[in-house]
Parts: sequence; C-alpha cells; structure tokens
Amino acid sequence: MSVLLKILVITKNFWKLYLLCLTLVLAVSVFNLVQPLIIKHIVDLVTVYLSDRNPVFEQILWFFALMIAVELLALWVTVINGYLGDVLAEKIEIFLMSKFYEKVLALDVSYFDNESKGALINQLKRGIWNITSFVNEFSSYFLGLLLTIVLTIVLLATYSSLLALLFMILVPVYVLLNYKASQKWLQKQEQINNLEDSLFGRIVEVINSIRLVKASAQVNTEYNQFLSKRWQVKELRLKQSQIYYQFDWFKKLSLNSVIIFVYIYALYNTYKGVFTIAEFVLFAQLAQQIKIPLTSVSYVFTLSQSAIAGAKSYFEIVNQQPTITDLPQAKELRVTEGEIRFANVTFAYNKKLALDQVSFVVKPKSKVAIVGESGAGKSTIANLLLRFYQPDAGAIYIDGQNIQEVTLESLYKQIAVVFQDTELFSGTILENILYGKPEATLEEVKYAARMANVADFVEQLPEGYNTLIGERGVQLSGGQKQRLAIARAIISNKPILILDEATSALDSKTEKEIQKSLEVLMQNKTTLIIAHRLATIKNVDYIIVLKDGKILEEGTPAELYQRNGFYTQLVKLQSLQEAILPEKGLVI
Ligand SMILES: Nc1ncnc2c1ncn2[C@@H]1O[C@H](COP(=O)(O)OP(=O)(O)OP(=O)(O)O)[C@@H](O)[C@H]1O
Ligand SMILES: [Mg+2]
Repeated sequence: MSVLLKILVITKNFWKLYLLCLTLVLAVSVFNLVQPLIIKHIVDLVTVYLSDRNPVFEQILWFFALMIAVELLALWVTVINGYLGDVLAEKIEIFLMSKFYEKVLALDVSYFDNESKGALINQLKRGIWNITSFVNEFSSYFLGLLLTIVLTIVLLATYSSLLALLFMILVPVYVLLNYKASQKWLQKQEQINNLEDSLFGRIVEVINSIRLVKASAQVNTEYNQFLSKRWQVKELRLKQSQIYYQFDWFKKLSLNSVIIFVYIYALYNTYKGVFTIAEFVLFAQLAQQIKIPLTSVSYVFTLSQSAIAGAKSYFEIVNQQPTITDLPQAKELRVTEGEIRFANVTFAYNKKLALDQVSFVVKPKSKVAIVGESGAGKSTIANLLLRFYQPDAGAIYIDGQNIQEVTLESLYKQIAVVFQDTELFSGTILENILYGKPEATLEEVKYAARMANVADFVEQLPEGYNTLIGERGVQLSGGQKQRLAIARAIISNKPILILDEATSALDSKTEKEIQKSLEVLMQNKTTLIIAHRLATIKNVDYIIVLKDGKILEEGTPAELYQRNGFYTQLVKLQSLQEAILPEKGLVI
C-alpha cells in the first residue's frame, strides 16, 4: 500500500487537474445511472399509453429527448475527460522522468559502480509506465466504478432490499477474490521484473561490448542465456495467467449466477404483479450496469498491483540520497596558487583498501607524476581529488581549502581531466571538444585541436569538425580518441590539470609531439600526471611512487634515481635512462 500512497503523494502537484478529472468521471457515472431511470419512465408511460391511450405520447417524446441529451452529455464529458486524462498522464510522465534524471545525475559515482545501466533504464521505463497508467486509470476509472456500484445498489434498495442485499454480499466477496488473486499475481510480477531488469542489463552490456562478445566467440552463449531468461519470464507470466483465470472463472460464475437470479426473481415478481414491467426493465438494466464495474474491478486490482511492483524500483532510485553533495555552508573554491595537499587520506572501495594514509603536497604550478604498478591507487587519487568518492579518513586541500567544504561545481570548474578510459559522446568532433568550454569559438577549438595534435586528422575528414564519431567515439582510433580528450582539456583551460594515462594509446612519435604541446599547456598550471610509461613523465618536477595504496617513495626525479629504489628499477626496466637523465643532468 505504501507504494500506492507514494504514487498519490508524488502526483500531488497535479491535484487540480486530478480533481477535475475525478469530477468528470463522477458526472459520467451519474449520467449512466440516470439512463435506466429514464428508460423506466418511458416504459411506465408506454404501459399507460397502451392500456388506456392516455395522451402521454408527448411526454414519451420528451423523455426520449432527455435520454438523447443525457447520452450526448455523457459522451461529451467522457471525451473531455479522456483528453484531460492524457494531459494529466503527460504532465506526470514529464515530472517523473525529470525527477528520476535529476536524481541519477546527482547520485554518487559509486552508485553506478554497482548498477547495470540497462536495468536502470528498464526500471525507469517500467516505473513511469506503471505509475502513469495507474494514475490515469485511477482518475478516469476507479472512482467512477465505485460510484456506479454504490449508486446502483442504493437504487436497487429503493425497490427491492433483497436484491440490494444480494449485491452488497457479492461485491465484498468479489473484491476479496480479486485482492487474493492480485496478491499472488504480484509475487510473480516482482520476480518477472527482476528477471527483466537483468535481461535488459545484459543486452545493453552485450551491445556495448559487441566486439568482445564476437571476438570471444560468445555470441551463441549470450543468445542462449538471453533465451533461457526469457523462457523463465514466460513461465512466470503463464503462472500469472493461470492465477488470473483460476480466479476469473469463479468470479464470473458467481457474478453471472447473481445476475441470473436477479432476472428470475424480478421476472417472477413481475409475473406475480409485485413489480411493474418498467421496474423489471430497470432491474435488468441495473444488473447489466453493475456487471461492468465489477468485471473492471479485477483490472483495477491488476493495475494497482503492477503499479506497486513496477514503481518499487523507481522509488528506490528516486529516494536514494547522494552522499557527496554541497554542504549547507559550502563556499566557492578559489584557486589562486593551485597547491594540492593530500593529508593522511585513507580510502576503501567497498571495504577494499585503495589508499592508505597518503600524504603529499603538489606545489603550485608544478608538474607531479604519480607512478606505480597497476592497481596501486593512482586513478583513485584523481577520483578523490574530483570528489567522485569521499575519503574515509584524512582530507584533501586545494589552496588550503578542504575540497569537502567547497561547492562541487566550483571544484569542477577548476579541474580539467583526461580520464584513463577516454570518455566521448556520440555527436560531432566539434561538440566533443566544446564540452570542455561550450562558449568557445571555432578558432579556439581549432587551436586546441592543433595543440592536441589532432587537427591534421580532423581537417582532412570530409565533414571536418562536424564529423560524427559514434557512441563513445567508436569510429575513432584509440589514439584519436585520446587526442580529442586532450583537446577538450586544453580548451577548458583550468588551473588544475589531471592527465590519467592521457597519452597511453599513442605511438612514441605522436606522444612526443603532444608532449611539446602539453608542456605549453602545463605552464602556469598545477598538473598531476599519472603514467606507466616513464617517457610520459620526463620533465616533471616531482614524482610520487605508489604501491598498494601507500606512498613508497617520493622526490624529484634525480633524488629518486639516486635512491636506487622502486623508481630506479622502473627506469632501468624501461631502459629509458637516456630519455630522462640527460635533462636532469644525472650520470648513472
Ligand atoms: N570502482 C571501484 N570499485 C571497487 N574497487 C575499485 C574501483 N576502482 C578501483 N578499484 C580498486 O582499487 C585499487 C586501486 O585502483 P586504481 O584504479 O586507483 O589503480 P591504478 O593505480 O590507477 O591502476 P592502473 O594503472 O591499472 O590504472 C585496485 O585494486 C582496484 O581493483
Ligand atoms: Mg588507473
């Protein structure tokens, strides 16, 4: 029930429209009940007319006219209500979608570490569809059904308390049966939803990694896994169908038996002269009239149960609270010098320690390299500096300001980053570079592209900067993608720069060329360079060597080399002494 309550609460903003729809529905129900009464009067008049030829013919015509007028009015109100229902549904859909998207954009990065994107989209679509159709049907249907049932019984009671009593017993039994059936149905629906979420999650993952799937000869396996899950869904759906029809035949049987009894009872009493023919016609109509809402009750129950099941994960997501947000007293980050300081930072991803009491200072406008084996925690340092995750202990300062106490937006405005896994959008090359600075001119874009050594490539393309690059830049080579990401960082021109393996996909020649541009770019900026390859970090001012989340050694390249530790081994291993040492004036 709480989900239904949440649905009503979440849609409270539209109460005026909602109320209007409800009023119209109620009006239609009243019109529907007026019709049998008019018909009863007509039959009454016809009986009188037939028996003694009273001059009631004109009255009959008037009642006919009234009947047509009521019918037209009901039709008109139904049409308006239908349209308003659509307006309401559309408004609710926009509201629900924007609430979801707003939350998804606000949630911590860590939330997405555990979530399947396909499942998320499926949950969104299901949630929205279920909530909207429930609200729509509820406003244009449910109360009308309820009112029709109540009014019909009241009307019946004025003529025959026995018939009214019969329906008063039948209705709760009917509702109870529906409730029982829908409960069983709901259990299955929750299983179906979970299965479908994982099904869609996998489809999206497989499409995203289609090259890997094909190259690993896993096409058939993936397809068969899909089929087996889909078959499980089918089994559950058929079980739902069985539940539905098992109850359905019993419900229909009891309803039809009561209606037949009404006919027989009314006919018998008419025959006996207790009821008039007109009353018989009225009962017959009322019995038919009540059949529609009672049959629809099961639909309403099914609808509300799917809303409960479907909206559950929607609400779970919308009710998630991001932990990384602006503090109430958060200030704007002001970068004057560009000093970065990690003070005793400890951090674990899901209890898996990634950084252990890490402390270091990056001097203003200096270039600091972070090196270390794969998994040492290098990217984690970038993640924490960007506040994608929160340190478990310790703090990070930029120019003496704790980054947890500044607004996220002001932090992001000061840091340009080239991620280890190049992030590009489907769209044009121009759009992707402009993402770093939306207001930049074409000249600035071209300059950034030249600096990133990608201009020649772009300009020889038939569409130039307007070339579409496919989702995640799939139509580009790894190196081209990286160079575009570098161009994006260049154009954003922020005082702090993070390069996480930014040139790892480039050949030595291209890397060297970009290196020159990067040198220019890094002037007057504080730069963190994360790299495996030592060629990438020549000319840095300081090196931090990480191992298993701890700082193993740190110092200037010359100091570190003399220490003959991990860094020296790394240099020797990569046989790059000549690339690094002459510039630092060292002799091995
Ligand atoms: N999102 C995550 N969830 C859980 N564990 C993670 C996550 N990201 C990284 N890790 C773990 O944290 C540790 C440090 O990862 P990190 O990405 O910082 O390594 P790295 O030094 O950048 O390695 P590489 O050179 O391979 O990029 C690793 O053991 C990794 O398995
Ligand atoms: Mg990394």
